[in-house]
Amino acid sequence: MKISIPLFSVFLAALLAGCSPKDDTEKKIDGLLGKMTLHEKVGQMNQLSGGEWLVESAAKGEVGSILNCVDPKEINAVQRAAVEDSRLGIPILVSRDVIHGFRTMFPLPIGQAATFDPELVRKGAAIAAREAVSSGVKLTFSPMLDIARDPRWGRVAEGSGEDPYLDAIMGEAMVKGYKEGGLASCVKHFVGYGAAEGGRDYNSTLLTERALRNVYFPAFKKAINAGAETLMTSFNDNDGIPSTGNKWLLTDILRDEWGFDGMVVTDWNSSGEMIAHGFASDLKHATEISVNAGVDMDMMSYGFISFIEELVKEGKIKESRIDDAVRNILRLKFRLGLFDNPYVDETAVDAYAPDALEAAKQTALESAILLKNDGVLPLKKGRTILVTGPLADAPYEQMGTWAFDGEADHTVTPLDALKDKFNVIYEPGLSYSRDNSTAGILKARAASSRAEAIVVFVGEEAILSGEAHSLSSLNLQGAQSELISAMASTGKPVAVVVMAGRPLTIERDLENCGAMLYSFHPGTMGGEALAELLCGEAVPSGKTPMTFLRTAGQAPMYYNHNNTGRPNTGTETLLEDIPIAAGQTSLGCTSYYLDSGYGPLFPFGYGLSYSSFEYSNLTLDKSKYSAGDTIMVGFDLENTGEYDATEVAQLYVRDLVGSVARPVKELKRFGRITLKAGETKHVTFELPVSELAFWNADMEFTVEAGEFQLWVAGNSAEGEALSFNVI
Ligand code: GLC
Repeated sequence: MKISIPLFSVFLAALLAGCSPKDDTEKKIDGLLGKMTLHEKVGQMNQLSGGEWLVESAAKGEVGSILNCVDPKEINAVQRAAVEDSRLGIPILVSRDVIHGFRTMFPLPIGQAATFDPELVRKGAAIAAREAVSSGVKLTFSPMLDIARDPRWGRVAEGSGEDPYLDAIMGEAMVKGYKEGGLASCVKHFVGYGAAEGGRDYNSTLLTERALRNVYFPAFKKAINAGAETLMTSFNDNDGIPSTGNKWLLTDILRDEWGFDGMVVTDWNSSGEMIAHGFASDLKHATEISVNAGVDMDMMSYGFISFIEELVKEGKIKESRIDDAVRNILRLKFRLGLFDNPYVDETAVDAYAPDALEAAKQTALESAILLKNDGVLPLKKGRTILVTGPLADAPYEQMGTWAFDGEADHTVTPLDALKDKFNVIYEPGLSYSRDNSTAGILKARAASSRAEAIVVFVGEEAILSGEAHSLSSLNLQGAQSELISAMASTGKPVAVVVMAGRPLTIERDLENCGAMLYSFHPGTMGGEALAELLCGEAVPSGKTPMTFLRTAGQAPMYYNHNNTGRPNTGTETLLEDIPIAAGQTSLGCTSYYLDSGYGPLFPFGYGLSYSSFEYSNLTLDKSKYSAGDTIMVGFDLENTGEYDATEVAQLYVRDLVGSVARPVKELKRFGRITLKAGETKHVTFELPVSELAFWNADMEFTVEAGEFQLWVAGNSAEGEALSFNVI
């Protein structure tokens, strides 16, 4: 059949193809750039913290972006100066750390990761975006994608834990959610910041290119492919090179290999900090290094606005590099519609809408991890319970770190919410998490005599995690363990709820309670969620997004480790069992700690339910696969308990032999499966063989033929292995 297309339609199609919105934006950028003086170009590359006091800088075209101002009136004042008083009227990009909510605080990102529910995380990001944009914010410094394998590092609170796959899925969900709400993302911190030696913030890292490509890059690449508009450089030096001055990272990888056309911003003064790193001799030198490495915007070093014009005149920075940087900045501003609509409606601030509070509560429900339950939970509604502990009624602490714009008076605490479910006796026991006074413990113990059961709320004040808040001990602070122990001595059923910004070492506390629920600072609606979980109106489904250690001395410990040449056999002799005058090699020579053994307290992906689940009938559609195949993994999941409940089923794979040693397990799929009590579902995970690729000994990204194993289970430590081959 011959199809004739009128010539005009062909012409029209060609015309439209030649004027796509994207090309139209580039034409606008070219037009504007052509009018800009070097000083005005440099002004766009300058990001300053503040509000109304930046009006003068804005009027002179010397600031391209501001952060830490969320007052719509102040924002409009700065914006008017930029748009109406500066020579070219280029609008200001308003940015803020909207890390886990803006006004309505969602659980910390580490808690959101524990939901293993990217759809819910996306929804939360969209709500956070809606609230932030209504205040005038157009860029958030989120999602934080740093892989975190060491809970001594306080910033594990802000990321999605230790697994590259979970991290990438959650990062993508946040980028998509922010975009839906009209908020640009800033993926950070590029790169490897979470591998700080000793878990001490800002410390050096030593990551090979292969480790970067196999573990630390994937989440950034996925987020950029999902449309992340900007990226932030990290504070750390990797192998002696600070990320902010690393051309291989910021140009060779980000631009040339990944084709990123967004804007690169430094972290706070991370350009200037290259002097302290010993990588730059002074601020002018640091500026030269950062700009030539590929940085577009300078957060608060004042180096760009002070030295770039000089450096260009001296030929140390090409003006073409400045033009590229300004293009990236202007492109973002055009794409955000700032030229068309630069001002915020001061009457339309959006906060705490019912759907926001509901989504925050649902996220807090799904993020709670049941670590232990001897039958204490759920507590029967209407019973008389003693509520105690410094986190039972701590509205500010409950929001967690990076809650700049959260408002504590909107927080629903567990004490607030439990009063609707139980007859509550309240004795805090301790005033705050570091409180060492024991007077309150005696009062709580005395009060317990009137209670049928006890719920102890412990954990961390918000200040104890987050940036610059590393800990060398991860035990509960203050006299919290003593409080738990005192409650255990009453002989009453004791449930412990931990609210923290990181996995703490709570082994000794587990021994003093019948149940433990772990809730990474659950945000505004955390109290409602915890009350519903404690009384059984909701059933816990959260899973550990990071390995929980026995002691801080085990760090870094993570599930997707290499096997080593002397893997632990599980029969090793522990300290208390070593005979006197034991022979040097009598304990065997395998990888473990004499005093804390080998394994963690809880593995990655772990979490209990009030119900129980059974995996069976694990099957593969084939036993041999070629590169272009998709592996069909089938299994049955039965809810063998008495509660309707949700299980996060996880698929792990191991490449048994590679041109480089490969991890003993890698998460490749997961899914939340809801089952009625007694119900069984047949589930299939589809895994393209191409997703078994890794950067090998020759630095090729490829799938190597050979034998593999896979597991489907409710955590990274369980399940029966099934073998298959890639040919
Ligand atoms: C901080 C953090 C970064 C944050 C930035 C702006 O130092 O490292 O994550 O986005 O400054 O507040």
